[in-house]
Amino acid sequence: MRDQNQRGGPGFNRRDFLKGSGAAVAATAIATSDQKTEAAKATKKNVFAAKAQDVTLNVNGKDYKLKIEPRVTLLEALRNDLNFTGCKDIDDDAAVGADTVIIDGKAALAGSRLAVECQGQKITTVESLHTEQKTDEVVEGFVQHDAMQCGFCTPGFVMATRAFLDKNPNANLEEIQKGLGGNLCRCGTYHGITQCALEIAKKGGA
Ligand code: FES
Repeated sequence: MRDQNQRGGPGFNRRDFLKGSGAAVAATAIATSDQKTEAAKATKKNVFAAKAQDVTLNVNGKDYKLKIEPRVTLLEALRNDLNFTGCKDIDDDAAVGADTVIIDGKAALAGSRLAVECQGQKITTVESLHTEQKTDEVVEGFVQHDAMQCGFCTPGFVMATRAFLDKNPNANLEEIQKGLGGNLCRCGTYHGITQCALEIAKKGGA
């Protein structure tokens, strides 16, 4: 006679099946989770295994000597090691542009560059646009056109605007909107920003 409790036998009902399959799924999930943890540990080990090295960064015309690991981004080096906190660390996806700096004359996302890669390049941060001697016209324009609210995107937008106008001193509104399209403002200050850029462009980029 067939054992009533034998799997698949008459005594094996839907509830038993669901219990069994649930346990199997849970076991698989645990195994997967363990595997992921192990993989993450291994990756972390590799990342942190790289030793700190001497790196010289030229920021706002001055050389800074640092000892940092190769994994350190330019954004981390600027903010954490050099105290240039104007560039913001908002997201890991480089989707907002709040970490925009200028590298060798071009707008660049500091969070997407490794600091070691930027040796020998001229890095300009938003701090350089306002000194005791001079305030850049883009900074003044943002104030005049009320182009900020919470301010988180503002340093990135200022740098993107400065880099854009340096290359396109006579840009029209459409070109400005397109040129600054890589930066996002959650507060919606686009009108003020583009009006600021347009006003400067009408004067020839200042
Ligand atoms: S001013 Fe708030 S995100 Fe742009």
